[in-house]
Amino acid sequence: MNILGIETSCDETSAAVLSDGEVRSNVISSQLVHREYGGVVPELASRAHQQLIVPVVEEALRVSGVSMDSLDAVAVTYGPGLMGALLVGLNFSKALAYGLGIPLVGVNHMEGHIYSNFLEDPNPEYPFLCLIVSGGHTQLVLITSPLEHELLGETLDDAAGEAYDKVAKMLGLGFPGGPLVDRLAQNGRPDFMGLPRSLLGNTSLEFSFSGVKTAVLYWLRDNGYRYPLEGAVDGGSEGTGTPHSLPEHIRTHLSDICASFQSAVVEVLVEKLLRAVRATGVSHVAIAGGVSANSELRRRMDSTARAKGFKIFIPALKYCTDNAAMIAAAGTLRFKRGMTSGFDLNAIPNLSL
Ligand code: KG4
Ligand code: ZN
Repeated sequence: MNILGIETSCDETSAAVLSDGEVRSNVISSQLVHREYGGVVPELASRAHQQLIVPVVEEALRVSGVSMDSLDAVAVTYGPGLMGALLVGLNFSKALAYGLGIPLVGVNHMEGHIYSNFLEDPNPEYPFLCLIVSGGHTQLVLITSPLEHELLGETLDDAAGEAYDKVAKMLGLGFPGGPLVDRLAQNGRPDFMGLPRSLLGNTSLEFSFSGVKTAVLYWLRDNGYRYPLEGAVDGGSEGTGTPHSLPEHIRTHLSDICASFQSAVVEVLVEKLLRAVRATGVSHVAIAGGVSANSELRRRMDSTARAKGFKIFIPALKYCTDNAAMIAAAGTLRFKRGMTSGFDLNAIPNLSL
């Protein structure tokens, strides 16, 4: 069974081919046009998807060795995401599926992140917990059986990746900020500054990351920082991380600031996942989404799993951030169950799980 997956919900144009669940190709084109703006510009994203979609799909088919005629279905993200960006992938997929006379399978992007844990062995067994941490979402989900999910908790304000991106922007590091903060944090002291851990009481499975982000901003202001930084985005777009307009004290402690922030975020993520393990008694636990690429989160999840006796599943780095292989994986599950979509399927920017 050959499934073509297509993902265009944000700033990655991606296409992948899965044969019986095995990844044959996974082509990802990250749009660089957004860097100079310090964040994703929706209109530029859809324009870039329009330019990239045909070459990216052609490349995915070429690498896979699967001909277009051998495709059994086209699986595509129809939400959540940016309306204009989603529409490019969805309309392309509809036209292709219609032209080939094969079914269209609409996939929820968050469901795709969950099933990124099935792209390589070993796979989690049902029921399992999944912590999805991305730029737009932070959700704790109980997956009871294939495609059956129960949302246990989510963020009340910023997503974890969003907090990373905003702190990186404050520091003039560039976009996306997560990997840059992660890299700097490796040489920093996590106890350099005291930052709040928003646990929201003793039992809550919800998240809040706006407080820690604001605490970083207040600390910076107390240390002579003025926003916006002159030339910050230009200075940081290559990930150099030291815009000249940062006060000396802040510039010399960039790694410490990043390490302190990272430690506050990761501690909360680990604690919430532990709470969910205790509350559900489930022993297979997965993480997914862009922030699951974070080195400290991966390390802490590994050591906590060993200490607490649950089994942790972490996708390979290339399957953490947005990619079409995960969409094809969820699409394969749907297609096998006859869960195909009509050609009247619409993009839903705020689609929930
Ligand atoms: O899943 P994803 O590619 O897109 C969404 O669905 O949002 O996640 C992107 C997010 C961005 O906020 C990015 O800064 C963050 O994931 N991210 C990271 C790392 N790599 C990507 N955050 C922390 N550490 C990383 N290594
Ligand atoms: Zn995503």
